[in-house]
Amino acid sequence: MTNDDWRIGALFSRSGVTAAAETAEANATLLASEEINSAGGVLGRQFAPVFYDPACSAERYRELAVRLLAEDGIKVIFGCYMSSARKAVLPEIEAHRGLLFYPTFYEGFEYSTRCFYTGSSSNQNAVQLAQYLIENYGKRFLLIGSNYVFPYEYNRVVADLVTRAHGRIVDEIYVPVEAARHDFDHVVKQIRKLKPDIVVSTVVGTGAVLLYEAYKEAGFDATTMPIASLTTTEAEVAEMLPEVAAGHLTSASFFETLATPQAQRFVAAYKSRFGASAPVTASAEAAYFQVHLYAKALELAGKDEPEAIARQLAGLEFEAPQGRVRVDPDNHHTELWSRIGRINSQGKFDIVWQSETRIRPDPYFVTASYDDWLGAQHQLKRQG
Ligand code: ACM
Repeated sequence: MTNDDWRIGALFSRSGVTAAAETAEANATLLASEEINSAGGVLGRQFAPVFYDPACSAERYRELAVRLLAEDGIKVIFGCYMSSARKAVLPEIEAHRGLLFYPTFYEGFEYSTRCFYTGSSSNQNAVQLAQYLIENYGKRFLLIGSNYVFPYEYNRVVADLVTRAHGRIVDEIYVPVEAARHDFDHVVKQIRKLKPDIVVSTVVGTGAVLLYEAYKEAGFDATTMPIASLTTTEAEVAEMLPEVAAGHLTSASFFETLATPQAQRFVAAYKSRFGASAPVTASAEAAYFQVHLYAKALELAGKDEPEAIARQLAGLEFEAPQGRVRVDPDNHHTELWSRIGRINSQGKFDIVWQSETRIRPDPYFVTASYDDWLGAQHQLKRQG
C-alpha cells in the first residue's frame, strides 16, 4: 500500500454465526478490487482494501467502523450482513460523514444519504416469493426466524401479503440468533400440530443448517411442504448434506447456477481465486458489483470525497453478473432482478422463476397495493 492508493474499508465476519455468508461477501469484495487493480486501478491509482473481522458482533461492527473512519482515515466502507450490524454502523457513518455500501438482502424501511443498498429489499423478493408459494403450495404459512430486526420486519411484510391474499399465518416463531439444535424442537412440534402449507424461514447462518436438519429428521417432505427462505443461500446449503437441503426454495437476485455468460464469468473467476467448492451467493454478487459501481463513480468524481461519490452514484448503471443493475437516485437502493431457486439433489439451485425485467426498489412499499402485487405476477416467467 502507498500514499497514492485508494484506501477502502471492509467489514465482514470471518467467525461467528453468519461467517460462511460473510466470507463469501468478503471474498467478492477482494475479487472486485483485484480486478480493478489488474486493469490499472482508477485514475492510475490502485485500490487498497483494509479488512477487519467483527466476528458477528454488532458492537464490534460499530467499533471497527469507528476505527476505519476516525483512526485509519478511510471514509468508504463496504460491509455488514445482519441488519443489526448495519444499524450499529450507520450512525457512525453519518457522524463521520462517510459512506456505507451494504450488499445484503434486507427488510427495507430505511434510507440514508450516506448508505447505498445493493442487496434486495422486500418488494424485490418477498412479493414474488409469496406469490409463487400461494400459487404452488397454499395459503397457510408458518413463519420461523432468528430473533432480530430483519426477520421481524420481513415477516411483517409477508404476513401482510398473505393476509391480502386471504391466507393465514398459522404461527410466527423466533429462535435465538445463535440457535442450538434444541431451539428447533418447538418449531417441529408446531409444524406437526398446525400442518401449514409452507414454512418461511429467515433463520440465519448456522441456525439455518440446524433447522433444515431438524426438518428432515422429523420426516417433513420438502416436495409437498418446502421451507422457503431468503437466508438459506449457497453458503448455508454448502454446510448441509444434499438430502437435507433438496426440494427447499430460496428467493434471491442471483444464484451460482445462473446460466448467463456474465454470471458464469463471475462464478469462474470467484472459484478460480477462492477454490472450486467456495460458495457464491447473491450477497457475494452484490458485494462484487458494488465495488465496481464505486470504482465507476470514483472515476467520474475524480476524487474519493463521499458526497462527490454519492452524486455520481445516483442513477449509475452496471452490467452485473445478475444482469444490468441501476442505483435508484431517490432511495439509494438498487434496481435488481428477482429469482426463485429450488435446491436439487446435488445441493445446487435450479432456477424455477425469474422476473422478466429488473425490479425498481420500493423499500418503504410506497406503491404497494394488492394490484401491484398482482402486477408483479405478470413479470414472473417460468424458466426452461
Ligand atoms: C439481514 O439481516 N439483512 C440478513
